[in-house]
Amino acid sequence: MSVIRSILTGVGSYLPDRILTNAEMAELVDTSDEWIQARTGIKQRHIAAQGELTSDLALAAAREALTDAGLEGRDLDLIIVATATPDQTFPATATKVQAALGMTTGAAFDLQAVCSGFIFALATANSFIRTQQAKRVLLIGAETFSRILDWEDRSTCVLFGDGAGAMVFEAGEGEGSNEDKGILATHLRSDGRQHDLLYVDGGPSSTQTTGHLRMNGPGVFRHAITNITEAVNSSLDETGLNAADIDWFVPHQANQRILDGTAKKLGISTDRIISTVGLHGNTSAASVPLAYAVARADGRIKDGDLVLMEAMGGGFTWGSALVRV
Ligand code: UT7
Repeated sequence: MSVIRSILTGVGSYLPDRILTNAEMAELVDTSDEWIQARTGIKQRHIAAQGELTSDLALAAAREALTDAGLEGRDLDLIIVATATPDQTFPATATKVQAALGMTTGAAFDLQAVCSGFIFALATANSFIRTQQAKRVLLIGAETFSRILDWEDRSTCVLFGDGAGAMVFEAGEGEGSNEDKGILATHLRSDGRQHDLLYVDGGPSSTQTTGHLRMNGPGVFRHAITNITEAVNSSLDETGLNAADIDWFVPHQANQRILDGTAKKLGISTDRIISTVGLHGNTSAASVPLAYAVARADGRIKDGDLVLMEAMGGGFTWGSALVRV
């Protein structure tokens, strides 16, 4: 049976030049390199320069992904930017990227699911492609979380960093089997009752300010492994695949302990985990495509591999995707 598949044809990434080390963090708040590394695995994070906006990061990653796919902006039907730190309340950061790429047709919009944003965008792109509403889609996860952190709150400011990652998906044909190239399954979830565990204490409608990120870390941690495992198992069940079939596990990079705990619960061996949390920190919606780009560039992820992506974030939102690349 011939089916339409969303096939990954290009990847790109961008990290701001400025690296902020744990030793430098210890000069800002009462923390230490030992604590941050032991509790999270983070060694450093990148911070956007003054005047460097989310759209600038997004554009740099997008240009690399388009080059990788052999496409130009005008070839695209749709751009989705997953971000919780847009340049402005409106218009969408995606429309700024659209104009900068010289794309004058099609549509561009932002998608807001915080750290799960890229997985939500990937599932959305897959729906557009499979229902033949779009043939070529550019997905970007781009964040400047450094701008919404409370730099006096040691329990959150040490965790996050800035960056962007991008992927191009194009419509292609498959046989409807798990050997097809492309997105094989996605699974999205949310639970609005968990709002108070991870949120920003501002917004246009509530305070008319941007606000700062607030997180009950242990509260989020308690849900993370269970929720992620549930989403992954739903995607595996849908395809009939199991953990042993997964070549690479590309998780949202929040905390090395969550990565390891999830892999263990799913039965994925540690040498299959792509981990960039040590070098990037938590870059929210950018973390999955950034981690993917690193492992693709260093030759670990190869054509034909089965890749499992997942994320969890504020809302709560969480989800998974199985992609044969
Ligand atoms: O991407 C969105 C999803 N987010 C997540 O998945 C994050 C999930 N949560 C976590 O990753 C972890 O909960 C954290 C890394 C945020 C915190 O680790 P924890 O092991 O849960 O530590 P804790 O919050 O229970 O804090 C333990 C101790 C506390 O001191 P007392 O009360 O035991 O005296 C904190 O005050 O560590 C203290 N602490 C710190 N100490 C040094 C908290 N932050 C720091 C810090 N440096 N930066």
